[in-house]
Amino acid sequence: MGKALAGKTAIVTGASSGIGGAIAKALAAEGAEVYAAGRTETALKGLIDEIKTADGKAHAAVIDVRDPVSISGLVDRAVKETGRINIMVNNAGLSYPDTIATGKFEHWREMFETNVLGLLAGCQAAIKAMRKGKFEGHIVNISSIAGRREGAGVYGATKAAVNTIGDTLRQELENDPIRVVQIMPGAVMTNFGRNFPRQVVEGLLKSMGENVAPDMEGKLPQEAIDRAQAKAAQMFAHADDIARAVVYAVTQPVTLNIYEMVVRPQRGLPDSVVRPQSA
Ligand SMILES: NC(=O)c1ccc[n+]([C@@H]2O[C@H](COP(=O)([O-])OP(=O)(O)OC[C@H]3O[C@@H](n4cnc5c(N)ncnc54)[C@H](OP(=O)(O)O)[C@@H]3O)[C@@H](O)[C@H]2O)c1
Repeated sequence: MGKALAGKTAIVTGASSGIGGAIAKALAAEGAEVYAAGRTETALKGLIDEIKTADGKAHAAVIDVRDPVSISGLVDRAVKETGRINIMVNNAGLSYPDTIATGKFEHWREMFETNVLGLLAGCQAAIKAMRKGKFEGHIVNISSIAGRREGAGVYGATKAAVNTIGDTLRQELENDPIRVVQIMPGAVMTNFGRNFPRQVVEGLLKSMGENVAPDMEGKLPQEAIDRAQAKAAQMFAHADDIARAVVYAVTQPVTLNIYEMVVRPQRGLPDSVVRPQSA
């Protein structure tokens, strides 16, 4: 049997780490030609090599999603090089978990520009290209259960916005062969904690028997992430778990609407970890 996504082109933002990297690999494994976008060139290069070694098709795109021209440029590039665009995964995102009373304006701006405005630009660029080329496809927006949880801070506000954007687009695109789905992960072991207080991240890792410290950018080696996730699978999902949900959504017929998916590990994290806190 042929691969489910053979002959499709996909873009994944935030593919240089965590959930986005796993989504890029999973889509390529199903036969999609993938444009993996992110800011860290070395990480993207490693991902592309991995996909190619597994006989997949992938290209790196070093962009900052806060620049809408870069996003529409990437969509244009994908259409020019492959003749189509079918899947747009708006995944790039981050959290500064500060309380509102102590948080920094620049952090709020970065969260809204990345999680909301970058995602909006990705949605619009994909829709314009899909309509122009008459391509069928899916837009996948990576939200979070924080968009639903009460008191989830400014990060939660950005993800609530992502959910409203998806719900609105679903209605706007009712007459197009373009479906929109938002995926709301619970806790997933990735580099998401890069802007969290170091003592929280290191304490959590230590409780899992991991003594590795995050680098200057707050990132951890992938092997440490995988080891820690395996030890604490009831509390942290693996990025691959979210990628499988994405593959499910984008392999459905475009006449079927998958509105949203909540994908969480067995147990919730303690309140002391998920509540907004001062750095
Ligand atoms: N991990 C969780 O528990 C969890 C739960 C719910 C939702 N999510 C959501 O899942 C998504 C992925 O997060 P993750 O857990 O995989 O975290 P991650 O490992 O930190 O990955 C985040 C990705 O977003 C990229 N990114 C951030 N700002 C960007 C920008 N301005 N332009 C381009 N790329 C940018 C990063 O690129 P660089 O590394 O190159 O900077 C990285 O590839 C986010 O939207 C997050 O809100 C995560």
